[in-house]
Amino acid sequence: MRLIVMISGSGSNLQAILDAVQAGELAAEVALVVSNRASAYGLERAHKAGVPTLYFPLKPYKDRGADRTEYDADLAAKLSPYQPDLIVLAGWMHVLSPVFLDQFPRQVINLHPALPGMFPGTEGIHESYEAYQRGEVEHGGCMVHYVIPEIDAGEVIQQAVVPIHPGDTVDDFETRMHQTEHKIIVAAIRTVIDK
Ligand code: GRF
Repeated sequence: MRLIVMISGSGSNLQAILDAVQAGELAAEVALVVSNRASAYGLERAHKAGVPTLYFPLKPYKDRGADRTEYDADLAAKLSPYQPDLIVLAGWMHVLSPVFLDQFPRQVINLHPALPGMFPGTEGIHESYEAYQRGEVEHGGCMVHYVIPEIDAGEVIQQAVVPIHPGDTVDDFETRMHQTEHKIIVAAIRTVIDK
């Protein structure tokens, strides 16, 4: 199975995928790593693993007043030649429109640091932690789901509870979150492969 992994930051989930492939735990290959941020350390992780990378920022489109869908269309056109079986959004901080998603029907999955229906958007970790402090939730969680135009709302592939303990700082919780994410992101890809 040919994977394209899309990132915007550290890429620790990308690393979990690369390690699983390397260890023979995933019958897949990472054909390309895409980032919309030049500073994303995940690009370095890809280089170290000998995986091709594509840096494709939105800014030039915004600077010339082009529509985001133009960016999405061009991005899809750049990825199609790699003939991905699965596109994995692992900390990819850009909402993809149907212009992109329609090119890869049921082939785009996303990792989100909250349980289904909880805290959509980019602040799932902090919002979960604060809700716990207010006594509104008992724990956090994370999930991998198919991407649909509605943010963080597609069919769930894998999910896991992430405990929060009374003495936790938000960093303690975030560390536990990432450890759990690294497991479910690989499990989710394996689930799709085994379908
Ligand atoms: C993860 O917590 C993911 O849930 C969120 O962004 C973070 C990416 O972390 N969308 P990394 O770049 O994989 O380390």
